Amino acid sequence: MSAQAASRRLSAPDIGARKGGEPIVALTASTTPFARLVDQGGADVILVGDSLGMVLHGLDTTLPVNIDMMILHGQAVMRGVQRALVVVDLPFGSYEESPEKAFRTASRIMRKTGCGAVKLEGGARMAETIRFLTQRGIPVMGHVGLTPQSIAALGSFRAQGRDRDSWPAMIEDAGAVAQAGAFAIVVEAVAEPLAVAMTKAVPVPTIGIGGSAQCDGQILVLEDMLGLGERAPKFVRRYAEIGQVIEKAVAEYAADVRARSFPGPENVYPERKTGG
Ligand code: KIV
Repeated sequence: MSAQAASRRLSAPDIGARKGGEPIVALTASTTPFARLVDQGGADVILVGDSLGMVLHGLDTTLPVNIDMMILHGQAVMRGVQRALVVVDLPFGSYEESPEKAFRTASRIMRKTGCGAVKLEGGARMAETIRFLTQRGIPVMGHVGLTPQSIAALGSFRAQGRDRDSWPAMIEDAGAVAQAGAFAIVVEAVAEPLAVAMTKAVPVPTIGIGGSAQCDGQILVLEDMLGLGERAPKFVRRYAEIGQVIEKAVAEYAADVRARSFPGPENVYPERKTGG
């Protein structure tokens, strides 16, 4: 991608400035062709999310996803994107230990992929790290509510904030992330009024996923909304059934092959002249 294309892409400050304005359209993507389609379809933010471990690599959780996987998919996505801000997830175990470790991981991912920002999970406990990164030139998207990298501690992927008593701490989490310098915050799978309260409480855009339509933007995992994911969460609206389209195409192809009606070489290649 040329420097000219890079300069046409939206930046983290562009997205941060959309608080309370035109809703931010965000989707995940992990490969060049899908990233190109998502970009051309009008997404403002393309997240190379570590959910790719589950939807592309067949893993049960995001925990085994590593930095090299994120770099490989980040590079592929960057090749397809002209306009959207590309954000790459910091994978589990690559940043939680210390702000310095987070900086090493985030700077390596940014250098190798050319992405415009990174995302990391956690509320107040990650504020010091977010501050450390943002003060050193790394734009950070926060992620609160259901944080899938904590699945072992949470026990399940169920919605957070079912108990009202937990709300003040969760709103404080979002506030701490914004205060630390995050330019936007993903709010995943929380009770609707809690997502609204978080959105009101923070000065940066919230990007909901299973939160509230009142968030400043929305994000979905692409494979889930296209009907390609096997275990999409209940709140996901399927905008297409690409899985069915692929199955049908493969079945038709299989039928052609078995019936030997597949166009043979005589239909594909011009007849070769033999002899003198
Ligand atoms: O990894 C991911 O796809 C995400 C989204 C659920 C926001 O973090």
